[in-house]
Amino acid sequence: MLEASNLRSGYGRIEVLHGVDLRVERGEVVAVLGPNGAGKTTLLNTLFGLTNVYSGSVNYEGRSIVGLKPHELVKLGLSYAPQLGNVFSELTVVENLVMGAYVRIRDPGVKRDVEEVFKLFPELEKRRNQKAKTLSGGERQMLAVARALMSRPRVLLLDEPTSGLSPKAGSALMSKIRDVRSSGVTILLVEQNVRRALEVADRVYVLIGGRIVRESPASELKIEEVEKLFLSAKA
Ligand SMILES: Nc1ncnc2c1ncn2[C@@H]1O[C@H](COP(=O)(O)OP(=O)(O)O)[C@@H](O)[C@H]1O
Ligand SMILES: [Mg+2]
Repeated sequence: MLEASNLRSGYGRIEVLHGVDLRVERGEVVAVLGPNGAGKTTLLNTLFGLTNVYSGSVNYEGRSIVGLKPHELVKLGLSYAPQLGNVFSELTVVENLVMGAYVRIRDPGVKRDVEEVFKLFPELEKRRNQKAKTLSGGERQMLAVARALMSRPRVLLLDEPTSGLSPKAGSALMSKIRDVRSSGVTILLVEQNVRRALEVADRVYVLIGGRIVRESPASELKIEEVEKLFLSAKA
């Protein structure tokens, strides 16, 4: 459904991804695991048209999407919940959700979709008229994911959805991500937290220093092995 081949990208003259190969099949949850600075956010930014592609290809449903702008990608069915700045603190829960549907904000279906999203996130419905800044960390992350769903994506990109959350809030969020997958959305998430990612992923890649060093079904991945790879990156 989504495939990057020999993808090189970065900022200005600084190349961050040095030839990444990765694919996400329809219905999968794929996790890209990597330590801080590995290039995880850059990878999502690149797939979502926010970072310069130097060479290589990115195909979505069989067509090249290199050079397309984020709003064009949203129309094609991609959505992104970035790690930072993913909700508007001064807006209410409902207002944030409506903003998530900005590509079709005049569509009368948006109201109905807000209610649909609340079925997946009843804890947000209770707080529908509260400003986002009054939510707990876990609720805010749920809002970020819910907001990304408002464009009715077929593929959802998630940047470290559980970072900064308590263990309890983190597992609650991962269980929501499983619900999102069951609703038919394909998911690519990036994580530093290997154990958390393995709660939801079908398949994983390990990204170190802008290179994929390992690909594996989640069930065959040894956490200790990934931890060793992470440590080698710090050395
Ligand atoms: N806007 C930017 N301009 C220049 N370099 C950046 C920018 N954002 C990230 N980088 C660099 O790219 C590398 C990878 O960063 P990032 O993709 O944020 O890693 P991760 O998300 O895995 O922690 C780091 O060396 C970082 O300093
Ligand atoms: Mg990051």
